[in-house]
Formats: sequence, C-alpha cells, structure tokens
Amino acid sequence: ARKFFVGGNFKMNGSLKEIETIIERINEAKFDGEVELVVAPPALYLLKIQEELKPPAQVSAQNSYTEKSGAFTGEISPNQLKDANVHWVILGHSERRSLFGDTDKLVADKTKAAVEAGLGVIACIGESLQEREADQTQAVVERQLEAIANEISESEWKDIVIAYEPVWAIGTGKVASKEQAQEVHANIRQWLAKKVSQTVADQTRIIYGGSVNGKNSGDLATAADIDGFLVGGASLKPEFIDIVNSGK
Ligand code: 13P
Repeated sequence: ARKFFVGGNFKMNGSLKEIETIIERINEAKFDGEVELVVAPPALYLLKIQEELKPPAQVSAQNSYTEKSGAFTGEISPNQLKDANVHWVILGHSERRSLFGDTDKLVADKTKAAVEAGLGVIACIGESLQEREADQTQAVVERQLEAIANEISESEWKDIVIAYEPVWAIGTGKVASKEQAQEVHANIRQWLAKKVSQTVADQTRIIYGGSVNGKNSGDLATAADIDGFLVGGASLKPEFIDIVNSGK
C-alpha cells in the first residue's frame, strides 16, 4: 500500500512570525492514521522551521540546483540541503517552469542531482488550460515524465513522489473534479508500468495539487490513484489539518 503523502507548499508567503504560527498549529494537530507530511517554507526559513517542526512532519525545500557547489549565485545545491538535514525538495513546480525558465530537461537534471544527493523529490507535472482544451493533457504529462525517466534509474523512483498539478487549477479555486484527476493519475500510473516497471507503478505516490481545500480533499482522496496532495494556499490556513487527515 502507498502511504498517503501531503505537502504544504508555502511558496513565497509569510513572515517568520506568520510561518511559526502555522507551524505551531501543525505541531498541535492530531493526525489520524498513517500520513507522510512535509511543509515547504521559503528557503530562508528552512533551518529555523526544521528546529521547531515536530516529527514525523518534515521540511522540504521549494527548489534546488543541478550542481553540488560552485559559482551559481542565488542557488542552493541538493547536497547543501542534505547537509542541513532537509530531506525533501519540490522540483518542476509550474511557477518555476513558467516564470523562471525551468525546462523539462532542467527539471530532470535537478531531479537527478537531488536523488543522487539522497533527497526525496516531489516532482511536479501538469498541463495548462490551453493544453487541456487542445486534448494535450496526456501528451504533456508524458513528455514531462519522460524527461525525468530518462535521467533516473528504476531504483531511484522510490525517492520520487509525482505531483500532478494542472496549471489551470493552481491558485484559481477551480479544483479538478475527482474524475478528471483520477483519469490523469491512472494514466500516469499506466505510463510508469509501461516505461519503467510494474513495481514502480504500484509503489510511486501520485499526489494531486491545485485548489485543494478542507472541503474538497475528502472526496478527492477516495479516488483509487490519488495518494495525497500538494497544497498551496490552504496549507497556510487551519483547514490544512483537515486536508492532511483526509487520507484513506
Ligand atoms: P493552490 O493550492 O494554492 O492552488 O496551489 C497548488 C500548488 O501550486 C501547490 O504546489
């Protein structure tokens, strides 16, 4: 069985004080059953929040670079994250792809470097509205996945969580329906079975992101191939606890 996985992506939000208030709420919450929980504050706050966050919740970075060290002003290496005991990183988020030039190849190279450094990667994929309307959804997610699959070995997939985040659902309040998300998740799993292996297909968590909130998460979580969520806006709010508790 795949362990339910919920990530809170704070993006570039919050002061230290605001983030600490959110972390306190998470620390005080009661979580039902088995869930793997990670929160991703801005990089500046990672170490402080890591000290304050109670296990088993873990912190995650929102990005990392392809190289171990060197003249790459403004970047953080996966090896530095590992050194700082940060064990997760979000890569390929659509905001990085659309605003900061993260191409499929760059995302794949970053993923490879992160996995080699010993990190877990939340690898984000998803189509735009225009692509969905042109019936390109499957082609787009396969292209994004293929770039990653070309760089990593079968055994490295155990360190990857796939986050399907349709761009049209991110920050819009337009959550994918359970049927829409399930269809893509099932297709991703089939693709993994065909292109990587049946074991990888069976074991890889495929989580959904895009306007997940405390009201819609329970229904989405009942879909067979939805193994958790990557949450933006609602991860800053008290309802995040309900989302974490929505797993089966
Ligand atoms: P929202 O939950 O705010 O739609 O954002 C989703 C997201 O981008 C998580 O990475």
